[in-house]
This record gives sequence, C-alpha cells and structure tokens, in this order.
Amino acid sequence: MEKVEDSQFPEGFLWGGAVAANQCEGAYLTDGKKLSTADMVTGGTKDTPRMFTSKIIEEAYYPSHEAIDFYHRYKKDIALFGEMGFKVFRLSINWTRIFPNGDDLEPNEKGLAFYDSVFDECKKHGMEPLVTLSHYEIPWNLVTKYKGFHSRETIELFVRYATTCFERYKDKVNYWLTFNEINVATIAEGALNGLGLIQQEDLEHTDPIPLSQLQDNPQERFEALHNQFVASALAVKEAHKINPKFRVGCMINRITWYPHTPNPKDVLACQKHDRLFNQFAGDVMVRGEYPSYIYSYFKENNIDPSFITEKDQQLLSEGKVDMYTFSYYLTNCVSVDPAVERVGGNITGGARNPYLKLSEWGWHIDPEGLRYTLNMIADRYPNIPIMVVENGYGGIDHVEEDGAVHDSYRIDYLRDHIREMRKAIDDGVPLIGYTEWGPIDIVSVGTGEMYKRYGFIYVDRHDNRLGNYSRSKKDSFEWYKKVIASNGADLD
Ligand code: BG6
Repeated sequence: MEKVEDSQFPEGFLWGGAVAANQCEGAYLTDGKKLSTADMVTGGTKDTPRMFTSKIIEEAYYPSHEAIDFYHRYKKDIALFGEMGFKVFRLSINWTRIFPNGDDLEPNEKGLAFYDSVFDECKKHGMEPLVTLSHYEIPWNLVTKYKGFHSRETIELFVRYATTCFERYKDKVNYWLTFNEINVATIAEGALNGLGLIQQEDLEHTDPIPLSQLQDNPQERFEALHNQFVASALAVKEAHKINPKFRVGCMINRITWYPHTPNPKDVLACQKHDRLFNQFAGDVMVRGEYPSYIYSYFKENNIDPSFITEKDQQLLSEGKVDMYTFSYYLTNCVSVDPAVERVGGNITGGARNPYLKLSEWGWHIDPEGLRYTLNMIADRYPNIPIMVVENGYGGIDHVEEDGAVHDSYRIDYLRDHIREMRKAIDDGVPLIGYTEWGPIDIVSVGTGEMYKRYGFIYVDRHDNRLGNYSRSKKDSFEWYKKVIASNGADLD
C-alpha cells in the first residue's frame, strides 16, 4: 500500500465531485422551467456530431431533457456522495429554473425551493456546495430576444439572477463560480452554450445544424465575452456585499499546450495559443484588466476593441475573483506543420504528443501535465487559492453479470493525477480542493453520450433511451472513499 508520510494534502482539503445541471437533472420543463441553450442540442457520438435545432423536433433525442433524472433522485445520489466522504459537491444552478425566460421580473419559487432542498441534503451529508451559476447554458428566450450575451441587457439579467441566488442561499453556500469555462468563448466552438450567441440565419434554419457548422462572427463573440466578464465582475461585487465570506472563482478550461518541437516557430505559435485560450480570461478575472497581448490578437484578427469602455475597465478592476478554479483533462501540442497528426480533445484538439497515451475518445492522458499546469497558474497568480474543479476519465464501462464494474483504468487515471497534485503542493502550489468530474455517470457535453462514462456510480441509462436509471457502485467508488478518508495519503 502506498503511504506517503513526508508529503500530504493540507488539512481540510476539499475532496469531492462535480456535475452540471443540464447533464444530470433532466425534468427539462418541470415546475416552471423553460428551455435553455443546452436543451436545443441533440445527442451524438464520437463519430457523429451533436446537432443544434432552433425548435424542438418531436422525434429527435435531446439528452438534457431526461439526463439521469437527478431532479427526482438527488437525495439518494447525494447520500452516495456522502458515503464516499465528499467534503464538497460542485453543481450548477439551472438559470431557467430560477428565471425561466431569463427576463422575468420575479423568480420562480419552485426552482428556488428545489436548490434549497439540494443544499440541505449536502449539509446533511457534510458537504459544502460549490455552485456554478451558468454551466454552458443560458435561457433560450435570451438567445432569441437579445442574442444572448451579445446584448448588454443580458448583463443586467445575469446579475439579477446571480443576486437572487446569493440572497436566497447566503447561509447555505459559500463557494461560487460565475461562468463555467468562460475561456472557450475565445474559439468559435464556444459561441452557443455559454454566450447564447446564434446568428439570425441559423435561428431561422429549420433543419438541424452540426454544432461545428454554426456561423461564427468573431467580433460579436468577443463583444459577448466582454459582456460576460463585466457580468461576472458585477456579480462578484454583489456577492461580497451580500456575504463577505463568499468566495467567488473564475472557471477556466485549461488545456496546457506544449510546442511540438523546439522549432522557434512551434514555440511562438504555442505561446500565442496559450495566451488566447488559457491566459486571457484568467488575466481579466484575476488581475481585473485586459492584458496587453490580447490587443495584438484583436488587431491581427480585425476585431475592433472599442466595446471595452472606461467604465467597464473600472468594473473589471473592482470585481476580481477570490480563487482560480479550472478543469484539467489533457494537454495537447502545437505545431505549425500541417502534416503532423492531429488528435481530438476537450472542446478543441491539437497535435499528437508521441510520449502520451490516448483515451478511448482520443484525449491525451498527461498526469504530469497537471503538476506543470498547477505550477504555471501559481506562478502567474501568486497568493490566490487554486482548485481543480474538473478532472476525470471518460471511458467505456462493462457491467459484469453480477452487476460489478471493474473500472481499474479510471482508478489508474485518477491515482496518477492525484499523485501529481500532491507533488504540486510540495512545489508550493496553494491547492485547496479537487472535484472529480462526473462522480455519477452523466451526459457527455462533447458527444451527448451516456456511453462515455466518468462516474464512481454507474447509472442504468443508455443512448437508445433505455435503462431504468438505477444506480450502482463501481470499483472506483470504494477506492475514492479510501482516498478521501486518508486525505489523499492512500492511493492504492
Ligand atoms: C468540461 C465541461 O469541459 O468537460 C463539462 O465543463 C464536460 O461539462 C467535461 O462534461 C467533459 O467533457 P465530455 O465531452 O467528456 O463531457
């Protein structure tokens, strides 16, 4: 058994798991809830794209509509998390449960009551909720009426929603994140879910459109992202007024890139990529100002930055976040050579790294990259707590005749990453917690599948819409329980 005596996770380290509303709740039109962006996207597979539809098509399959029915089963699910010893449970509030149209004058009491009950269950089982206000979804009405975050009105509406949640849950929730993986809006793929930015022509299209073929307008996309930064800063200010104990974080999809070769062209291309995708959003939210390098990106890409007003800049500097949180699944390489093999990834792919293995979905597996990434973040933003709020292994699980799932591959992945986090703490990184992604099987964001599973808990729900939603423990369940009980010392 591996026991590490000389290097330890700090006392009170926040171990737990993370999910998102539209990937687990289901009940997509229950108790007053209305459509959100995530409800307009059909299921796909590794080889067939998810489709956006501007109207709900009766016979199409939208995984968020039923998901794993967490909405009706959360008590048992949270009890299972409690059995594993979770100290923290990251979940998102579904904006459309609270403000079904996004611009309603009064919140929906049934939606508010649902999350009251979820947080009460967390407390009962000794977990701190860590709440994301917008995890890849905004009310559909805001898309059609205001063009999502492209409109400044959506800033006000988000702040109304955020403030309603802060007030209501001020004695139940201490940790908040404003927008999940806000930085994905720096690439075309990020326009739909978080920003709700869809071009009129696509809205009028009656046939399904593959997500990758939605039209992109970079000028509008960066304007919308800017509005999100301002909305987030305003929410941070409100949060601190309502409860000075609140800790609000940014949430960055962190894909560390390595130059594919020492060719300075690869190295420079890698730096550019890194600045745009990884650094830019974090710099704005942690340091409270736009970094100088982004203006050269704007210039190169004909983006007029006049949307950044002086008043906005003031707000950004007043609404800095209290912690840096991020997701980490993989690393990728950057190569200027078009002949180099490319592989996929979480939201975006990159050049193949010959030193790393790939998961079944073609994602590089790079535990040491996590240590490297943690050190880079700590160097860039000294004196701010850091948390890994997503990390996990999406794989294919086989259920044995006796119902067991022997997911040693998942244990291996997690063990290796946790070991590297421990080393990063030894390096001096102020890491305060870790929430494994998808502690219970949920719908995949990238492909919309249930076939790709992350959980310690197996859910009997399949892509053909069959299954009875029953929950059962995989081998990794007892393993993670032991990891938490030993505060990360026992990783065997
Ligand atoms: C993150 C998202 O980027 O990746 C999650 O925040 C998502 O919502 C996770 O589920 C894993 O990606 P996928 O495509 O395997 O679900």
